[in-house]
Amino acid sequence: MDNKEKILIIDDELAPRESIRMVLKDTYTVSTAPGALEGLDMLSHGPVDLVVMDIKMPRMDGITALQEIKKLHPDTEVILLTAYASLETARDAIRFGAFDYLIKPFDKDDILLVVEKGLKKRRENAGLKMERDILLGRASYLEDQVTKARNNIITCYEGTVSALILTIDAKDHYTYNHSNRVAQLASKLALELGVPSKVIKEIEHAASIHDIGKIGIEESILKKNGELTTDEYLEMKKHPSIGARIVQSVPFLEEAIPVILNHHERYDGKGYPHGLKGEQIPLAARIVAVADAVDAMMRARPYREAALSMDRVMEELQENAELQFDPEVVDVIVRGRVVLV
Ligand SMILES: [Fe+2]
Repeated sequence: MDNKEKILIIDDELAPRESIRMVLKDTYTVSTAPGALEGLDMLSHGPVDLVVMDIKMPRMDGITALQEIKKLHPDTEVILLTAYASLETARDAIRFGAFDYLIKPFDKDDILLVVEKGLKKRRENAGLKMERDILLGRASYLEDQVTKARNNIITCYEGTVSALILTIDAKDHYTYNHSNRVAQLASKLALELGVPSKVIKEIEHAASIHDIGKIGIEESILKKNGELTTDEYLEMKKHPSIGARIVQSVPFLEEAIPVILNHHERYDGKGYPHGLKGEQIPLAARIVAVADAVDAMMRARPYREAALSMDRVMEELQENAELQFDPEVVDVIVRGRVVLV
């Protein structure tokens, strides 16, 4: 197989065309064309490594042909031949992608030198292209691996959250699915309050594990029917801090910390664990506090009589707006912007 580099000479004048061919033919595979159209036709059947082309030609000039060649084969280097009078045009041709130009008359060494330089650049570009292709291949492989890893993390996250929710609900006195219902309601409230969708998803996830700290509270307290003693109540009040500590060690659950830690803070500052007030309490926690209370009121519990009526729930919310709850969040429910089910 012929491994010589391919050069095409395009010139409407026979003499220069042939003299260049003679200079190059022993080292390279050389073909010639008597005009730009003929040259382009040859190139449409396959690329060459380098084109040597006259600028001034009838029918199609070298600058136009240069742009056509670059469209066909961007990697083919082009050297233009110019008379001194067209020097400015030749210089302009560099910005259309010409590698270099030769001013007529030129001798054999000029041709050999510039052709060799052009081919060297072509080889380097081909090498770079190969490296780039290899790198792109590797990047695409890594991207696939990252996507797989990310999907695994998401599956792992969802599995972990589901397991935690089941654990909390099983251990607590709430009816089945309390955590999920709080998450759904919190998500609807956040949407109505104009929270961005990415943050809504975070609030929903956080809401579903807001009581995670109850894992650390004794079951006898959690499941006790009737009033808690002062000590038991103090113990129970630890669950936001315990929950935040648990979640701190799980990087992909970190965003839930503000909700877990602050969901028992009250708007009037009389909540726990830190007695934060009003907007000192993160919005997500203020939303979850309302969702949590609403769900608790709407469901019958083992230690309490039947669920409250819808009217009673509304009254409770309104009476406690600005005391226990953020009035803006309460407002969303009271005005029917989120329907309770
Ligand atoms: Fe709680």
